[in-house]
Amino acid sequence: MRGRIRLAPSILTADFARIGDEVRSVADIVDWFHLDVMDGHYVPNLTFGPSTVEAIDRSCENPLHVHLMISNPGQYAPEFASAGADRISFHPEVVEEPGAVIDQLEALGVGAGLAVHPDVPLSRFAPYIERLDVLLMMTVRPGFGGQKFLDEVVPKIVDANRLIREMGARADVEVDGGVNASTIDQVVDAGVDIVVAGSAIFDGVDAPAAAKKLRERLDVLVGKSAR
Ligand code: DX5
Ligand code: ZN
Repeated sequence: MRGRIRLAPSILTADFARIGDEVRSVADIVDWFHLDVMDGHYVPNLTFGPSTVEAIDRSCENPLHVHLMISNPGQYAPEFASAGADRISFHPEVVEEPGAVIDQLEALGVGAGLAVHPDVPLSRFAPYIERLDVLLMMTVRPGFGGQKFLDEVVPKIVDANRLIREMGARADVEVDGGVNASTIDQVVDAGVDIVVAGSAIFDGVDAPAAAKKLRERLDVLVGKSAR
């Protein structure tokens, strides 16, 4: 039987003029916060750096997962770890030796994650899976919040779960991109431990209500699969 699925809002579409209030408004309803760091190089968009992570860390007690969409994760990992990241994920295609960056994350005392771009095959990740705390399955092309969920990634999520189980590995499967009330059922069906939702929660209308709705749907779906 599957346990409780954790919900992790991405703050990309939150109101940054009052980010502390935004975070606190959903903190008791959600589990993790998912923080998308973009460098304008690996992806054609810029977001924020360690000082924002540190500000969010001061605003809530929730664990923070920093998703690095940057070309040089090894260079910046220490700053994000000191800023309060509990887990750091990076895209292995940007570095020569992903294993060395995982070593670095372990030495920093943060959970290590690899992010799976929709166009990068799962076979590239197999050598590292046993060492990971999280495998971040991207269901949009990295770069922007509010994109459409890529259905074609669903079989890859099923495969990722199978691979992790076969290896007896501990990694959580976290699904990231385009998850909302219409797509969440297929994500849960494919197998997921942590669901990221950005624009579906920080929708500019009522973030706590949106978070509660997704939380309730997750609980219903997990209840159904347990029966
Ligand atoms: C995309 C990011 C995702 C995404 C989540 O590059 O990694 O975390 O923005 O936001 P939504 O849920 O709006 O797709
Ligand atoms: Zn992300």
